[in-house]
Amino acid sequence: MKINKKLLFVTVLCGGMIFLQSFTQKHDDDKPVNLKILPKDISEKELHDVMRNYSRSLGVHCNYCHVAKEVPGQSRPQMDFASDDKKEKNTAREMMKMTAAINSDHLGKIKTMGDPLEQIQCVTCHMGRTTPIASIDSLPKAPKQ
Ligand code: HEC
Ligand code: HEC
Repeated sequence: MKINKKLLFVTVLCGGMIFLQSFTQKHDDDKPVNLKILPKDISEKELHDVMRNYSRSLGVHCNYCHVAKEVPGQSRPQMDFASDDKKEKNTAREMMKMTAAINSDHLGKIKTMGDPLEQIQCVTCHMGRTTPIASIDSLPKAPKQ
């Protein structure tokens, strides 16, 4: 009986350690490894908020910029978020730099009523499309004077 209790204790302890280890392991695996523009210490929640913002702004899913591999026998493709193989991801990086430059170098210098002009975001141009509408013909007709 006494031995059994000891054994139980050891078993639970080992189990707990394995559980904890797999937990921290998973956490390390989730850390971004290929950020070139976003801050490297960005929290998981912030990173996902940014990514959801990009997806909604362009009207796409994650796989528009990220490599998705079909795995036989699995219903969901396996995402490789760190890969730079899709050209859309690199285009998005240029867009991030462009948007930041417009905000800081241009809009940031223009003040109305003492406040800097509003910042632009991906959605300002993209409005839910991958290709922003770039033609005045698509605008509603100007009201009659
Ligand atoms: C419009 C393109 C675009 C879309 C859509 C997009 N991402 Fe990203 N994602 C990027 C770019 C660009 C980076 C790299 C940013 C950098 O270099 O700082 C990135 C990086 C990441 C990373 C970090 C990978 C690593 O290890 O470095 C994760 C995780 C991620 N995205 C998840 C998502 C998820 C989840 C979605 C869908 C909700 C999504 N992304 C949608 C462009 C996109
Ligand atoms: C000032 C306007 C503007 C802003 C802001 C902007 N974009 Fe773009 N974006 C464009 C234009 C214009 C194109 C080129 C569309 C075309 O002709 O294919 C484009 C193209 C793209 C493409 C490539 C689409 C394709 O067909 O290959 C991606 C990806 C993209 N933008 C992501 C972003 C992301 C992410 C942001 C925010 C960080 C952003 N853009 C902010 C104007 C903008």
